[in-house]
Amino acid sequence: MEKNFGEHVHVNEHPLVAHKLTIMRDKNTSTKDFRELVGEIGMFLAYEATRDLPLTTKEVETPICKAELPTLAGKKIAVVPILRAGLGLVDGVLRMIPSARVAHIGMYRDEETLEPHVYFCKTPKDVAERDIIIVDPMLATGGSADAAISEMKKRGCRHIKLLVLVAAPEGIKCITEHHPDVDIYCGAVDDHLNERGYIVPGLGDAGDRIFGTK
Ligand code: PRP
Ligand code: URA
Repeated sequence: MEKNFGEHVHVNEHPLVAHKLTIMRDKNTSTKDFRELVGEIGMFLAYEATRDLPLTTKEVETPICKAELPTLAGKKIAVVPILRAGLGLVDGVLRMIPSARVAHIGMYRDEETLEPHVYFCKTPKDVAERDIIIVDPMLATGGSADAAISEMKKRGCRHIKLLVLVAAPEGIKCITEHHPDVDIYCGAVDDHLNERGYIVPGLGDAGDRIFGTK
């Protein structure tokens, strides 16, 4: 399998991420632990996805002296969870960037055709001026993320990143072909999709495991 997906795909290779993902993949991991791990890995991935945030400086008086020191330049960000499973990542990402706004996009896959459908989209009024981080645990065929990115572009957003826990090569191909301007941040790239569109080895149905609906 090709391992180099190009400059727009950032696979997190931190051992803590790999370790936590392995616990999540175990079918015997409880809903409580699974949910907590989604949040924890969300923090790690948000840390990477914000590495290019611009800095300015401000004067601070330390106990020793006055100094001109780095501070975030006030970039406006919106985190966009794809409902439902993307909700599991919001708290972890907001712990890294607490001033971000949250826009929700409701998306479901038709179980027969695997086609995504947008059923809800509520964004801050100034969303077009914000940097967008779309979050979803799974990038499988890429259909849901593709549709979510297109929806945000329709609303005027131009700086969009996609943050996922586990990606399939098929999903990465879909996004890099349809949205070459979008950077993807992921915890792992797995082997392939099975005939039902599930990532292999994957971690099963992320929404069901986060919310305990199976
Ligand atoms: C899952 C997952 C993604 C999508 C990925 O959601 O959270 O949104 O599937 O598949 P794709 O890349 O082939 O589009 P699902 O549609 O199962 O809904 P849920 O979040 O309500 O569980
Ligand atoms: N959606 C999931 O929740 N898991 C997969 O493996 C694929 C799509």
